[in-house]
Amino acid sequence: MRLDIRLKKPVNAIISSEEFEKKRVILEGLSLSGCFLKNKIPSKKDIIEILIPYKDTELRIPAKKIREDDKGTALEFLITEKEIFLKLWKFICSNLYSTSWETCPYCNSLLDNDVVCPNCHFSLEIFNSEYVFNHFKQTFLYRLKNLSNQIKIDDLIEFYINFNKSLLSKGNYDENVEFVGTCEKMLKIFSLIRKVAPLDIPVLILGESGTGKELVAKAIYEKSSRKGRPFIVINCASIPENLLEAELFGYEKGAFTGAYNVKNGKVELANGGILFLDEIGELPLSLQAKILRFLEDGIVERIGSEKSKKVDVRVIAATNRDLENEVKNGNFRADLYYRLSVFTIELPSLKDRGNDKIVLANYFLKRFAKEYNINFKQFSEDAKKAIMEYDWPGNVRELINKIRRALVLSESTEVTSKDLGIDELTEPMINFSQENKKYRRRSYIDKNKLIKTLENYNFNISKTAKALNVSRPTIYNLIKYYEINIPK
Ligand SMILES: Nc1ncnc2c1ncn2[C@@H]1O[C@H](COP(=O)(O)OP(=O)(O)OP(=O)(O)O)[C@@H](O)[C@H]1O
Ligand SMILES: [Mg+2]
Repeated sequence: MRLDIRLKKPVNAIISSEEFEKKRVILEGLSLSGCFLKNKIPSKKDIIEILIPYKDTELRIPAKKIREDDKGTALEFLITEKEIFLKLWKFICSNLYSTSWETCPYCNSLLDNDVVCPNCHFSLEIFNSEYVFNHFKQTFLYRLKNLSNQIKIDDLIEFYINFNKSLLSKGNYDENVEFVGTCEKMLKIFSLIRKVAPLDIPVLILGESGTGKELVAKAIYEKSSRKGRPFIVINCASIPENLLEAELFGYEKGAFTGAYNVKNGKVELANGGILFLDEIGELPLSLQAKILRFLEDGIVERIGSEKSKKVDVRVIAATNRDLENEVKNGNFRADLYYRLSVFTIELPSLKDRGNDKIVLANYFLKRFAKEYNINFKQFSEDAKKAIMEYDWPGNVRELINKIRRALVLSESTEVTSKDLGIDELTEPMINFSQENKKYRRRSYIDKNKLIKTLENYNFNISKTAKALNVSRPTIYNLIKYYEINIPK
């Protein structure tokens, strides 16, 4: 599939370089990303300039040689200015033989209308003012994929997501996320959310990283009477200790060096609404005392201020730490813990959510395929098996990242376990003695599961290996590694 429309009509142009005078050439297959020259270029350098006549002037486009042989030279454009890019697009549009397509200019399939291609889904309304912008948005991941042998794909996907959020997408990805869950454990969570939301009491949300704690906080907010008023998030772990107090409580002008203006704290900003104290387990002891005071009487004081202010804020806190243990170890104040944990919601790890793993995976696959304008794909049988059996230490967040990546990497209509990057987990040969640590990370057969399967098969190693889809040596290694006693 092509990513850009190419001109069938040849275009007269001029090339120039430091090494030679201007030279007339004919450009073939001109597109936004490059063109082809039948001529050889009398230059040893890779970068040249192409001058295309445009209205009364000319478009000057820097280009790079990407291939040169007897047939000619393929050039890639290095356009960095938006204006040139848009002019080139106009030039291409005005030189098309026809704009009513019989076959798709991108994927060549037959068309029955010329609005959207039924095969690749690219829009064909090229005279629409938003067209190029939208087309680039749609093809961004494909373009990145073409570069992926040079750059790490994970970095690219991360870049795309941020780029998409900041420049292209008007809405925030998380804003319209659905809270997916069908297993019994999650249905119980939903019921707790419905129960606690209308009560104006604090809520403590517990759960491993990536299990959806923030989603729960937002769901409570949505269902509470404070909906429509502020929902302020503060992540206690991501702000350095010395700035956290100012973030939370604000400061007066001149309160300390650098306090040039008055600043409202997050607690004050949340007045009337909800303050979500994320990663509360990381809150330093000194600030725990201040938060406790605010929870007790609803009074806040900016740093450097004599005046206090009463606010009406409901607090929801979350942590992936074992707070009770932190209290025992003296890292978290018991009185604050009791205040916050009036109502606790503990999210299950993804691995304990049974078939929800598949439900969530399908949900995100569909969602991202639509978002990236990739034809809908399905998980292969081995992918489903891997999703069900993998440990998911990073929970839903890890699932999301793996699916995003898999969608870009997948070559067929099916997303495989290899695309998901969890296929190596089924590799049987692992050297435990040297790689205990690595193995732990890669393992998806936990001790309990192994013991259960061994018991089911009366400690028959071959049958256990078959049931777990690994080799016999792996089972022997696992038995040794987990120090499981095999009855004689
Ligand atoms: N049940 C779910 N349905 C749909 N999306 C979910 C679900 N659970 C989590 N997510 C998504 O997974 C990602 C991680 O969730 P969230 O940020 O709420 O986790 P967290 O528990 O706060 O993690 P951390 O402890 O790392 O901050 C988010 O993008 C969220 O939208
Ligand atoms: Mg979070």
